[in-house]
Amino acid sequence: MNASKQFKESVHDQPGIYYDGQLRLFRLRCKNSLYAFRVDDARNLEHLYWGPPLTHDDDITYLIRSHVPAPFDPKGTVSVAKIMGLDELAEIEDFQELSDKWKIYTRQHDEDDPEGDKRSRRLENASWRIWHRERNRGGDLSDPLSADAVADALKLEKRRREQSESPALDQPREPMANGAAQGRFSRPAHQPSAPGLKRGPGVVSMVNVAALGRESEFPSLTAPALDTPHARASPLQPMDRKDRLPSSSSSPKMLPKVPSTIYSPLAGSFGDLTMQEQATNWRELDPEVLGKNTKLLEFSDQGTGDYRDPSFKVIFSKDGSSVCPIEYVRHRIVDGKVMPRRMPALYTDSSEEATTLIVEMEDRLTGLRFALHYTVMHDYDIITRRTVVVNSGKDPVTLNHIYSGTFDFDAESQFYMTHLAGGWARERDVITQKLEYGTNVVKSSRGASSHQFNPHIVIHPGEEATEDRGECFGFTLVYSGNFAASCEITEYGRLRVNMGINPEGFTWYLDTKRETNTFRSPEVVMSYSNAGVGGLSRTLHRVFRERLIPRQWRYKIPPVLINTWEAAYFDVNHEIVVSIASAAAKADIEMLVLDDGWFGQRNDTRSGLGDWYPNLDKFPRGLKGIARDVNQIGLKFGIWVEPEMVSMNSDLYRAHPEWCLCVPERKLTTGRNQLVLDFSRKEVQDHIYNELHKMLNSANIEYVKWDMNRHLTEVFSQQWDRTRQGEIAHRFILGVYEVFRRLTEAFPQVLFESCSGGGGRFDAGFLYYSPQIWTSDNTDALSRSAIQYGTSLAYPCSAMGAHVSTVPNHQTHRSTPMKTRSIVAMSGTFGYELDPRTLTSDEIKEIKGYIELQKRIAPLVYEGDMYRLWSPFKSNSAAWMFVSRDQKRAVVMGINIRRIVGRLLPRLKLRGLCPNTKYEVEELCPGTLMRNNDTGAIEHVIGGVYQYGEKLHMTGKTLQNAGLPVKFIFDADSVLIAISAVPGDQSSASVLN
Ligand code: DGJ
Repeated sequence: MNASKQFKESVHDQPGIYYDGQLRLFRLRCKNSLYAFRVDDARNLEHLYWGPPLTHDDDITYLIRSHVPAPFDPKGTVSVAKIMGLDELAEIEDFQELSDKWKIYTRQHDEDDPEGDKRSRRLENASWRIWHRERNRGGDLSDPLSADAVADALKLEKRRREQSESPALDQPREPMANGAAQGRFSRPAHQPSAPGLKRGPGVVSMVNVAALGRESEFPSLTAPALDTPHARASPLQPMDRKDRLPSSSSSPKMLPKVPSTIYSPLAGSFGDLTMQEQATNWRELDPEVLGKNTKLLEFSDQGTGDYRDPSFKVIFSKDGSSVCPIEYVRHRIVDGKVMPRRMPALYTDSSEEATTLIVEMEDRLTGLRFALHYTVMHDYDIITRRTVVVNSGKDPVTLNHIYSGTFDFDAESQFYMTHLAGGWARERDVITQKLEYGTNVVKSSRGASSHQFNPHIVIHPGEEATEDRGECFGFTLVYSGNFAASCEITEYGRLRVNMGINPEGFTWYLDTKRETNTFRSPEVVMSYSNAGVGGLSRTLHRVFRERLIPRQWRYKIPPVLINTWEAAYFDVNHEIVVSIASAAAKADIEMLVLDDGWFGQRNDTRSGLGDWYPNLDKFPRGLKGIARDVNQIGLKFGIWVEPEMVSMNSDLYRAHPEWCLCVPERKLTTGRNQLVLDFSRKEVQDHIYNELHKMLNSANIEYVKWDMNRHLTEVFSQQWDRTRQGEIAHRFILGVYEVFRRLTEAFPQVLFESCSGGGGRFDAGFLYYSPQIWTSDNTDALSRSAIQYGTSLAYPCSAMGAHVSTVPNHQTHRSTPMKTRSIVAMSGTFGYELDPRTLTSDEIKEIKGYIELQKRIAPLVYEGDMYRLWSPFKSNSAAWMFVSRDQKRAVVMGINIRRIVGRLLPRLKLRGLCPNTKYEVEELCPGTLMRNNDTGAIEHVIGGVYQYGEKLHMTGKTLQNAGLPVKFIFDADSVLIAISAVPGDQSSASVLN
């Protein structure tokens, strides 16, 4: 490889976003994957590739040759000019020429046309329309052209000519040993200038997001439109077919030099928009004109030939039409990530961690604009996407649906989709299904992401991926409200995935005022793995732990808590809570959480919600008193709230009946005897925020459990007019996020755990505010094994609220050993959900032992990589392990869900270890039961029952290929194994610590 090629390869192998203006190609390079699309001749964004990195030099636009149009596939659009035989006018580059031509045309037609005046007027009008449009694309076509505008245009034209005549044109396009690098590529924004790599003509944007203002979500909202006749009059040389798809060594004259003053980073916008146009080759590149249905698109409109589920639907108020073709207008590549306003999203710690591409698309006729945001997170195989829509036209527009992203996959023999489905107390079963012809939708219309479905899907093209093998494409929406993920298999065997807010019941009214003409979609996290579903999960776990949950809780292990719910339900008061705390203290539990029942007139589910002040009959010394007494016992104090709800029997409802979601004069639907507050109203948000603020300030509260125990009905707000009622479900969740944001900002030291009747809102949206979420109301260890296993497909175990509960369990009435309950809870945040006052001293001692063990294991659970080993959905056991990032330590957990008597288990093949490292294998808490083979009786064994009798010493290779034999002798039996690199071998790590 020659030096310049090597240099380019190494630059382009770094994560970032690269634009090739010659091919109009965007390459989004993640840690170990590449995503690519291009702007086609019709200015659609055409998807090309997503998978392992490719050789940068390869011109991957050949991939468009997989398209095979069918007779009924619409082709490209034609302009009115073309139909009228005036297409020549659209090609004219020079104003004077255009003007002359127009005169000739109209005169000619005037003389020749048998229809006389009428036709010539039509031609004249058409000519002027074209002239205006080409002159002022994106501007107001009905405005007369100002003298200034003409003068400006002429100036630009002059400059363009000077540039095109400049000798700089001849500068080489490839990086040169002497340092000059002028290329068709823009380098990733974050990279410091490498020696020899200067900002070249193709480099359109290097903006630090911190310098960007409100408009930064668009390439430039205020700048004039790009596509002027001058811009079109690109000095690019005419190309023959060979040059249309040039290789990297094609003519250096292809791109003009652009003065560096043109781009102004401080202004955060393009100083001179011709630069962008010049950096892009607008000569035809496509071998044939193909309509939208034949292509793989990044974003698709309705009504112009793409018959798949579109990315958005609109209704224009002016004429009721919904046809809205959108075209690429411009783009910008910036350092870092442009965060959505008031919405959860992955964040960065510094602008060097990510690069963002913002592509602007526009409906030329109406001025409806779309900014498509793509952010590459450099350290992960993660790209985030979201969409911003701005109505910059003259008339209001109603958005009928808008997805955060559209993802087209080329044909495969088949596609599989994995998603997480379930119900209350049975959340997130892992479902994998073959996608058949037609559309398969995973969605929620309950106002919450729900117990039933989860905003996370995985696509496996070709074959069903396993835990370790196969390509997987993940889509996780950072959103807690109504969502939809639709997977459509087309007649071509292609797949379109759309993800975003559920279109059902959704509308958004975009008027023309600056404050209210914009809509921002939630963000979708796209993840890639060619190491199976497990690889995908590990990427998501890492990015969610490191760049989604609040920074202050990153890798923080929370205190071991005891929650009063399953200990006392509503029967709580000062004395009871103090006695629970005292008993818990003996077992070394570190925090007491006072769950439901402490406030207002809350004695059961019929009253009190909304009255967030202590019930003084139960807590005469208030929250301050109970927190103080619990603290004195040596425990931290936490509390439960359900801020989005109101009981009809509450002071709040009596004062503000209009503050709940309801249609006046219609009956109300209750759920758990409660109504839902209208969080779309600012006054409701403020009231709840103030009440909770007061509550948190009133006592030493170090933890808050934020619950939500019913779904939305009668989604109607008395605050908003009829045009806005389709917005309420989304405004509701935005309101919840807003209160959550304000509270967590005001009390950053308070640990928030969210909850919704268990795991009804376990999603990336809530993880942005609360580092942990109560995984399920089902605390039975065996049920939990499956629930936590399923949840781990997308979300890290460190985020899963998991408690040891009493036996028989309150949801299943099943009894499982303390060891099994502890191992399952240790795979999450770890706490207790039982009445410690009823425990014997032996049980207290046992719990103490498990807490000590959990303290040693927790760092692996919180920081390590999780490998799922046995699926409870495919076998009778569940097993997983956590491996430290340096691969020196691991912990393995196995749980027997159902024992089939006499059936042996497969060996447990470990994962994630270093093949040549020698490890010590130690069983951490041996069993206590054994079967007497002569009698069949189960007997207690003093001294413990070990799987292997002693510690084993094995290499990673053996542990992974031969595996560990595991014997379970009864239902709910379990095993906990520590793996640590043998000191002095390849590692000096000691066991666990
Ligand atoms: C549902 C939660 O999931 C439970 O843990 C408990 O907090 C109850 N709500 C209280 O009403």
